[in-house]
Order: sequence, then C-alpha cells, then structure tokens
Amino acid sequence: MPATPPRWSKQSLAAQAMGHVDPTTKAVVAPIHVATTYLRDEDNAYSSGFVYGRPDNATVREAEAVVAMLEEAAAGALLFGSGMAAATAVFQALDPGDHVVAPAVMYWALRNWLMTEARRWGIDVELVETDDLDKLRAAVQQGRTKLVWIETPSNPLWTITDIAAAAEIAHAAGARLAVDSTAASPVHTRPLMLGADIVMHAATKILNGHSDVVAGVLAGAQPDEFWQRLVGIRARQGGILGPFEAYLLMRGMRTLHLRAAAQAHSAFDLARRLSAHPRVSRVLYPGLPQHPGHEVAARQMQDGFGFMLSVQVSGGERAAVATAAKVGLWKRATSLGGVESLIEHRASIEGPGTPCPPDLLRLSTGIESVDDLYADLDEALRAAHRS
Ligand SMILES: Cc1ncc(COP(=O)(O)O)c(C=O)c1O
Repeated sequence: MPATPPRWSKQSLAAQAMGHVDPTTKAVVAPIHVATTYLRDEDNAYSSGFVYGRPDNATVREAEAVVAMLEEAAAGALLFGSGMAAATAVFQALDPGDHVVAPAVMYWALRNWLMTEARRWGIDVELVETDDLDKLRAAVQQGRTKLVWIETPSNPLWTITDIAAAAEIAHAAGARLAVDSTAASPVHTRPLMLGADIVMHAATKILNGHSDVVAGVLAGAQPDEFWQRLVGIRARQGGILGPFEAYLLMRGMRTLHLRAAAQAHSAFDLARRLSAHPRVSRVLYPGLPQHPGHEVAARQMQDGFGFMLSVQVSGGERAAVATAAKVGLWKRATSLGGVESLIEHRASIEGPGTPCPPDLLRLSTGIESVDDLYADLDEALRAAHRS
C-alpha cells in the first residue's frame, strides 16, 4: 500500500488513466509504445529499465499501474494475453506435489485445465464448495496446501465465497489465497484489502468492457518470492499482452466506474423483475436477499452486486434453449462484461460434468435501456413457452 493515500478517488484516477501527460507533446492520452527493443547506455547498462519487448513495454506498464491502483492494496500488477494465461501462471508457479483447493463451481475452462494439465504436471487439485467454509476448512491441509483459489461471484451460479474468512483459513495452513474477481470487478470488491494474496481478472470482461480485447491480469499484495516467480513466468513464457490491446484496455478502464455502476443497477433491476416472472423458476443474483450468499456479498461487495445473473427457466432445457433463440436485443453469445447484453445457455458450452443446471440461462447485463432488456426477455420467455 502507498505510504500516503492518493488525494483523488480511484474513479478520478482511472478516468484520467492516472493523469498521464506526455512530456514532449503535453498530450493527455499516452502514445502506444510499439518498440520490441531498447538502446543500451554508453556504460553498457539499461538505465531506462526497458531491455526487450517480451517483459518490457511502457503501454503495458501504464495499464498495469491503473489496475494496481484500482485494486488498492496491490504491490504490482501483471498483464497477460488472456484471463486463462494469467490464471494458469499462478498454478505454474507451484511445485509438483503441491496441494491446491479450488471451487467446485468456477469458470469451466480453468476447471478443465486444473483437472487435466495441472494434474499432469503433478499439482494435486481438490475441488470443494468454497462458499461452504466448513468444507473449505476440511479440505485445506496444514503445510501441504500451497494455494487456495476462489472465484466470487462464481460463474455461472454466482455463489459467494467469504474472502476474508477464506484468507484466514488459507493463511492458517501456510497457503496463499488467490481470487478470480472477474465478475465483481475492482469497483465492487477489492480482495487484497480483505486479505487475499493475489487477485486475478479476465480483463477481457468488464475491465475492458467493449468485447474487443482478450486480456488477463494478476495483482499481488506483496512483491515477495512468489510474485517474482510470476514475473519470471510471464517474462520467460512470453504471455505478455500486446501494446495495442493494453492501450484499448486502458481506454476501457477510463469508464469502468460508470459502466460497472450502470450494469450492476440494471442487473439488480432485471433480477427483481425476473424473480416475479411466471416462466422463470429461479433467479441467481447475489443482490437478492433470498440468494444464499447475499449476507456475505453485502459485506464484501460495495456499490452493487455486479452485472452477472442467471435464470432457471420453467419448462427445463428445451424452454431455456428456445428462449435464448428468440431474443432480439440480447445477443446470443458467450463471454460477459461488455456494454452489450449477452445471453447464453450455459450447459451447452460447458459440456458433460458441469455443475450448471440444464435449464439455466446466463445473462451478462450491458448498458442498454433496462426496460428494453426486460421487454425482450419477457417476450422471448413467453414465446419459448408457446413453441
Ligand atoms: C470468471 C472467469 N475467469 C476467467 C476467464 C478466462 O478469461 P479469458 O477468456 O480472457 O481467458 C473467464 C472467461 O470467460 C471468466 O469468466
């Protein structure tokens, strides 16, 4: 944490991408640095701190500074070419034989990677319902568990794990806590402030917000030996984000607070209205008082509960798929966090073994008129029932 807190709020600093002004031209938008290599000094040193483009790029560092600021207690941030590249780097920093506890409900591609590649490399992965702290406590092994990975709210059921309690459990056993905070964004939750060691975002989602960049980021609480391993993994494996994508991400983050607030507001409104819909059997949204994780979410999330919700459709899988086929304004596509609203029959993409119920539709709320979004869904739900 900085010794003296910055004078301006995170919203103000993000809006100006940290207030950067180009020293030569006085431009208020930083140039995109595309060079892949940098000059040595006369004395053979690299006093600029920039040597080669795989680890070093000024545009990437500028975007990383914005993420580190947004995460408040971050000692640093590292941008990767995707959310998966960022997440898998954390597991690659472990040693063979290390025990890892991860959530039963989590982003499916990472769960699949943990069950295949990570296990092949000797990482002992155990999946538990991390929203149940007794189960989490029972799964963590003193001295053997090196990492507890949680995702909150977790995709696609939006279960909530208590970050502060999970940090305590992990630390008591000598493990680190890493949090996939993609669905919360730094606007609603700052996991490092709650005791987590590492926070990860698929920056592809609401951080960028415009469905035109694939990116991932890690922010670390301490510049310790584990963080240095992550720095080394990114540098040597070459997973750094490209400068143009870093620039687009930085442009997206300038409006993050406005987008996140508007999207969370609409998601909450839709969750309430859909709860009363005759063709919806259940709405999963942590903002609803009946959601099992609501009490914890209300404690650890600020200024809203995020832009993601899921609905279970009366009439089962057939009605759910038919509803997704009948929307007009909602876009029937995977991904989340963009300004355009997306709808997806999630079990179709996750395949066999998914904990996702077959009647579930995942909704990523954008910035369109919430009345239009509701009307479109209402018509699609009714039409699917008639078909
Ligand atoms: C919660 C979560 N974590 C991680 C990822 C992976 O991010 P990416 O697609 O950028 O690799 C996703 C992608 O949907 C996600 O939803």
